[in-house]
Amino acid sequence: MSDAPITPLLAIETSCDETSAAVIGDGGVVLSCVVRSQIEDHMEFGGVVPELASRRHIEWIDAVVAEALTQADVRLDDLKSVGVTRGPGLVGCLLVGLAWAQGLVVGRGIPLLGVNHLEGHLLASFVGQETPPFPFLALTVSGGHTSLVHCHGVGEYEVLGSTLDDAAGEAFDKSARLLGLPYPGGVHVDRLAQTGNPHAVALPRGMSKKPGYNFSFSGLKTAVWKHINEHGVPEGQALADFCASLQEAIVDALLLKTRKAARELGVTRVVATGGVAANSRLRSAIAEMADKEGWEVHRPEMRFCTDNAGMIGYAAWLRLARGERSDLNVDVAPGLALGVRA
Ligand code: KG4
Ligand code: ZN
Repeated sequence: MSDAPITPLLAIETSCDETSAAVIGDGGVVLSCVVRSQIEDHMEFGGVVPELASRRHIEWIDAVVAEALTQADVRLDDLKSVGVTRGPGLVGCLLVGLAWAQGLVVGRGIPLLGVNHLEGHLLASFVGQETPPFPFLALTVSGGHTSLVHCHGVGEYEVLGSTLDDAAGEAFDKSARLLGLPYPGGVHVDRLAQTGNPHAVALPRGMSKKPGYNFSFSGLKTAVWKHINEHGVPEGQALADFCASLQEAIVDALLLKTRKAARELGVTRVVATGGVAANSRLRSAIAEMADKEGWEVHRPEMRFCTDNAGMIGYAAWLRLARGERSDLNVDVAPGLALGVRA
C-alpha cells in the first residue's frame, strides 16, 4: 500500500456515446460529475455511430474535464491520480479517453488506473462509501450489457449469467424503433407504459424455463416484429398497452433469473444498476419482490445509473486506495471481461 494521497482523482469515461469527467475526493465522494450526451447526434441514425462518437469525444473532452474541475473547485495541478475506462466499449471512443488520461499522468507523474466499465456499474450504488457492502448480487442492465454477478469484494466478481444475444436496453431500444419511437427508446416505452395494460399482449420471457442464469431477448424482438407485421404499428391506447406488455416481459425475464440466483445462493442484498435500472416498472417490481423475498435493494442515484465518470472514478478510487496501479502504457480493451484485471 502506498501512502501517497490519491485524491483529488480525475475520472474519464468515453466508452460509448457519453463524454464524461468527474472529480473524486476523500472517501470516494464525487465532488463533480459532468456528462455530455451525444444522443442527439446519433438520433437520426437510430443508434450509435462509432466513428461519429469518437470524433465527438475528441471535440468535447477538454471542455468536459475543465467543467468537472471548475465544479469541484480543483485545479489540474492539484490532481493526485487519474482513473479512466479501459473497456469494454467502442475502440475508437475508449482510445480518446485513455490517450487523454495517459498524456495527463505522464506529464504530471501521477498514477493511472484503467477501469472496467462494468465494474463502474456494479459499484455505482455505493459511490461515496469507504467500502461497498459485499457480498451482493448485481443485476446490470444497460444498452450494451445484461448480467447477473455475485460480487464478493473489490475485483472479486463471479459472473453467473449474461445475455446470449441482445442486452435488455437493446430489447427496449430495438422494439421501440419498430414501434416508431425515437432513439433511445427505453425511456419512451417507460413513459407510454404508465397508462397501458401490461397483460394486453402475450410476449415471451426468454430463457425463463431454462436452467442457469443467462438471458435472451432475441425471441422477444422477433415476437414484437411479428405482432407489428400482423397487426400494424399500434396507436393510442393500443400503443400504451403494447409498451406496458413489452416492459413487463423484459422486467419479468430479468427478475425471474435474479430471484432464482438470490434463492440458490442465499443472497439477500441485491443491486440493480445500469441505464435500464432507471426503468420505473423494474424499480417497482424489484421493490415488490424484495418485500416478499426479504431483500435489501440498492440502486444507484439516477445520475449514476446511465454512463458517467462518477462511477468510474469511484471504482478507480477503491483500487488505487488498495495500492493498485496500471502501467502508463496500458492499452484499451474493447472486449474486456469482468473479473479480468483492468
Ligand atoms: O448504462 P447506459 O447509459 O449505457 C450503456 O452502457 O449501454 O444505458 C442506456 C440504456 C439504453 O438502452 C436506454 O434505452 C436504457 O438504458 N434506458 C431505459 C430507461 N432509461 C434508459 N430503459 C428502460 N426504461 C428507462 N426508463
Ligand atoms: Zn454503461
